[in-house]
Amino acid sequence: MIYGKNVRLRAVEKEDLPNFVAWLNDPEVRRGLSVHIPFSLTAEEKWFEENEKKSPNERTLAIEIQPEGQGGEWVFVGGCGFFDFDWQVRQAEIGIYIGEKKYWNQGFGTHVMRLLLKHGFETLNLNRISLRVHEDNPRAARSYEKAGFIKEGVLRQARFYGGEYIDVRLMSVLRSEWK
Ligand SMILES: CC(C)(COP(=O)(O)OP(=O)(O)OC[C@H]1O[C@@H](n2cnc3c(N)ncnc32)[C@H](O)[C@@H]1OP(=O)(O)O)[C@@H](O)C(=O)NCCC(=O)NCCS
Repeated sequence: MIYGKNVRLRAVEKEDLPNFVAWLNDPEVRRGLSVHIPFSLTAEEKWFEENEKKSPNERTLAIEIQPEGQGGEWVFVGGCGFFDFDWQVRQAEIGIYIGEKKYWNQGFGTHVMRLLLKHGFETLNLNRISLRVHEDNPRAARSYEKAGFIKEGVLRQARFYGGEYIDVRLMSVLRSEWK
């Protein structure tokens, strides 16, 4: 378990899969992700088997939050993790989603990102952590800025969704600028 401010990250269990499937099939949640086809439990079970085969550092983690604050109950709300590691350059990309929409805009996403950065720099010994965010997802971009990510550039019209092309913003944090 990795603990942050009213958030914690734990290993994904098989029992979590139906929640993941429900969230990934929610158009509002998956709009910010690169999931555009309806998603089955069978596909998610296959993904789970593959996730278990990865080295522990590279596995997706389950996000739990404490909506009532310290001492309150922990609620499972989404997933996050590192991928595309380059151990020579010591860099990785990061991804996150909170599937329980009622907990959006309460700072939990920012707390999770800060926790992932701390884990990435202090435990995994990474030097550069990056992400991609769609330009039509200002909530996510703002949350990443608050966590310390800096805009590095834009991949123009790199995504097609809802009948239009959307730019994709590249953001990163270097160890030297991370506090
Ligand atoms: C993206 C996500 C992880 C952010 O987590 P969160 O807990 O909702 O975000 P936070 O509350 O930490 O921060 C959101 C910030 O965006 C701001 N915001 C929300 N809607 C906004 C909008 N339309 N325009 C500009 N800013 C907006 C909020 O006001 C807040 O900033 P503030 O604290 O300065 O007021 C979460 O919303 C999510 O999982 N969304 C669905 C999946 C997704 O898009 N994942 C990201 C893929 S790159």
